[in-house]
Amino acid sequence: MSTNKSIKLSDYVEYPFLIPTIYLDFDICVDLVEVQSSMIIEPKLKESSRLILQGNQIKLLSISINGKELNSEEYYISPNELIIFNPPISKFELKLISQIDPFINTSLEGLYLSSGMLTTQCEAEGFRSICYHPDRPDVLSNFTVRVEADRDLYPILLSNGNKKYSGNLNNNRHEIVWDDPFPKPSYLFALVAGKLNTVSDEYVTKSGRSIDIKIYVETGDEKYTQHAITSLKKAMKWDEDVYGLEYDLDEYKIVAVRHFNMGAMENKGLNIFNSKLVLADEETATDDELERIESVIAHEYFHNWTGNRITCRDWFQLSLKEGLTVFRDQSFTSDLHNSGIKRIEDVSFLRNFQFTEDKGPTSHAVKPKEYVAIDNFYTTTIYEKGAELIRMLELLLGKEKFMRGINFYIKTFDGSAATTEDFINSLIKGAYLDKENCTFNLTKFLNWYYERGTPKVYVNQSWNSEKSILNVSFEQKINSDKTNENIEMVIPILYSCYGRGNGGEPIVEDKLFILDKNKKNLQIKALHGEKDLPVLSIFRRFSSPVICETDLSIDDYLFLFLKDNDYFSRWDSGQILMREIIKNNINKRVNYSLEYAFINAIKEIIKSLEIHDSFLLSTLLTLPGLAELETLFEKVDPINIYKESLNFQVLIGNKIHQELRVLSENILVNINQQWPMGRGERKLIGTIWSYLALAGDEGIKKDCVEAIVGSSMTMARSALRALKPLDSPETEEASNLFYDLWKENPVVLDSWFAYEASRSHKQGINVIEKLLAHSKFDWKAPNAIRAVIGGFSKNIESFHSIDGQGYLFMAEKIIEVDKINPITASRMVKIFSKWKTYLDKNKEEMYKSILKINKANISSNTREVVELILK
Ligand code: ARG
Ligand code: ZN
Repeated sequence: MSTNKSIKLSDYVEYPFLIPTIYLDFDICVDLVEVQSSMIIEPKLKESSRLILQGNQIKLLSISINGKELNSEEYYISPNELIIFNPPISKFELKLISQIDPFINTSLEGLYLSSGMLTTQCEAEGFRSICYHPDRPDVLSNFTVRVEADRDLYPILLSNGNKKYSGNLNNNRHEIVWDDPFPKPSYLFALVAGKLNTVSDEYVTKSGRSIDIKIYVETGDEKYTQHAITSLKKAMKWDEDVYGLEYDLDEYKIVAVRHFNMGAMENKGLNIFNSKLVLADEETATDDELERIESVIAHEYFHNWTGNRITCRDWFQLSLKEGLTVFRDQSFTSDLHNSGIKRIEDVSFLRNFQFTEDKGPTSHAVKPKEYVAIDNFYTTTIYEKGAELIRMLELLLGKEKFMRGINFYIKTFDGSAATTEDFINSLIKGAYLDKENCTFNLTKFLNWYYERGTPKVYVNQSWNSEKSILNVSFEQKINSDKTNENIEMVIPILYSCYGRGNGGEPIVEDKLFILDKNKKNLQIKALHGEKDLPVLSIFRRFSSPVICETDLSIDDYLFLFLKDNDYFSRWDSGQILMREIIKNNINKRVNYSLEYAFINAIKEIIKSLEIHDSFLLSTLLTLPGLAELETLFEKVDPINIYKESLNFQVLIGNKIHQELRVLSENILVNINQQWPMGRGERKLIGTIWSYLALAGDEGIKKDCVEAIVGSSMTMARSALRALKPLDSPETEEASNLFYDLWKENPVVLDSWFAYEASRSHKQGINVIEKLLAHSKFDWKAPNAIRAVIGGFSKNIESFHSIDGQGYLFMAEKIIEVDKINPITASRMVKIFSKWKTYLDKNKEEMYKSILKINKANISSNTREVVELILK
């Protein structure tokens, strides 16, 4: 039984006090930090109520109200709370003096040490490990922070906001005072102290204000900051141009930290980033990584409005800031680069991760009702599905109304803590200035926030050739927990129609149909006297995050794969065909005519796209992810799926060997252009290498080895990827070359650790043990842990080996990680989420390993996930 208390949305009550200002004083000493906090507190209620503050591992030295020390009967300290029984009923000052020890903190939450510098992570509930405080997002204060430390050990002292004062003190110490004029919740607090080098730049806002940009890195990393700076400036400009939002402080600081649980953190004016998301150039990062860095820099910047200026009332509203901000960063990337390709990438990610999560034991609504550890809710559902909901709103309202709605929301809630309902209500209010015209079904749309699981949509067509009318019937199925209610969603469906005879031109283009009932019909008329059933292209741009089952034929999909003018739908048709082929092969019902037709379609596509659109071509040639393939089976045989997927690639590689060879020669000339140019060509070369290496092309294997040294990181990693499934001498050689080249760069070396852990080795687990004992492996860096242990979970043959040794090993490692870092462990344990879907033997072995974790003395974070998985 669980002993952990769960927090419920329905239990929300306002905090009974306001804390308009808070003054923090940090005295950094050799082996501890003394923290003083003075809070101005205003009771909201007339009668006296207890003042409850949260605290974790804090040694309280002094507590006083309005200058008078409290005696021990006036307050109470439990392991995680400080309770003051009878605080004054009018405004007072509470002053606390306490000590914390960041030097032994391995959780990477609160204040902790990373490579000799002190840094913080407060979201969601890390601030309570720094000082006693309500530590909830609806308590907003103006923070002033003084930091004092040794000048040599901690020459740089940073906190949120603008610098107010700095000066020297006795005993080689110095102090700095930071002031943040914008009220903020405690989770946005940040402090950094250490030996860091600064790279500076400037941005002038549209109203002419000059913003100081500063990136702080460890010595030697200065040369890797240009990409981050350029990305930040692009994000600042884009938010001004598209949303009309300008930056509000005088300084924007970003610190790169090696030991970090997540990607990055939007602390007001002082973003803290996992170093792998800051430090990069074309030599050290792939094209995809450069784009990801650009988008995360933008994401954290965009939070300044959607998250910081308007924050969340409580953590159940997390998607209010995360879903919206992901939507904003996706739109940013889409505007800057290739919108069609970006949509494909986002959908592919959503299907492989969010859909998988939503099918499994940790499925939850975008707005959950209950949680134990909030850190477990930083999920693809909150982030990526949350973004899909905003995208649907944009589609349903139209861009213009949507923007008007967003601006109205921002104006209405600026400086406060809001709910997702506040957001939707004000969005609709702002979009439809007069109520009469509002056709939007708010109640039904909100079901997207409240219901978990991926809705299914069934599509059936009937064709009236006499009248040239296509009748399409739609049915939606929501797997609701409320079995006695009829839940209906608002599902926007973008569609087009193609005539078979007219050379692939659409006869009806990009219309919006709104499925807002369980069943609804669409009549498509005006098909210009078509005699044959037209080809329906549906859920274009992936207009809603649903699973769609249609009665379209294989021929329809082949048609769309060749001709559809929507990138997403075209790609999706190819994916459907590939899934069908691989599924047939796994079921030993090979459909030769389909394979033949598909290969011919590929040849035709290569001819027509060739070098004009390398990006699309390589995307169309990419196989569905293993997670997607697994969903096709009642009982999943992971090793077989992996092998059949490889076999299919071998088949394609063999059948279009000649075409790919010619193609690669034609595009090689373009691969040395500077990012983002040449990106499509580089991606296509990588795809070609993978196919050809699998098809046994000896020349390509040599080319791949050569690409490790002296070319861009994109080409080097493409080469490694192509050699990965081969277990050839070239694979060893390339891996060794890569290691020698990058062994002194921890960010790049993580990709080598991941490579070694995930490629098949004859000695299986021994290799992983060796990697974990490697002198360059750092147990305290989540990036390294995820590289090796996460990498091992992708080593299909070892991890899923039938004797269960892979699972057991994984369980043991997760227990070890949990001891030092519960947040990272509780994310990794989700590797076991799918245990019930596997073949009996795998399932039994996996179950044993999960039980082993469950029996161990684990953190409440990890326990919450394990219990869900076992349920
Ligand atoms: N708000 C951060 C971001 O989106 C993520 C921080 C999550 N931290 C955590 N401990 N769960 O970008
Ligand atoms: Zn975020």
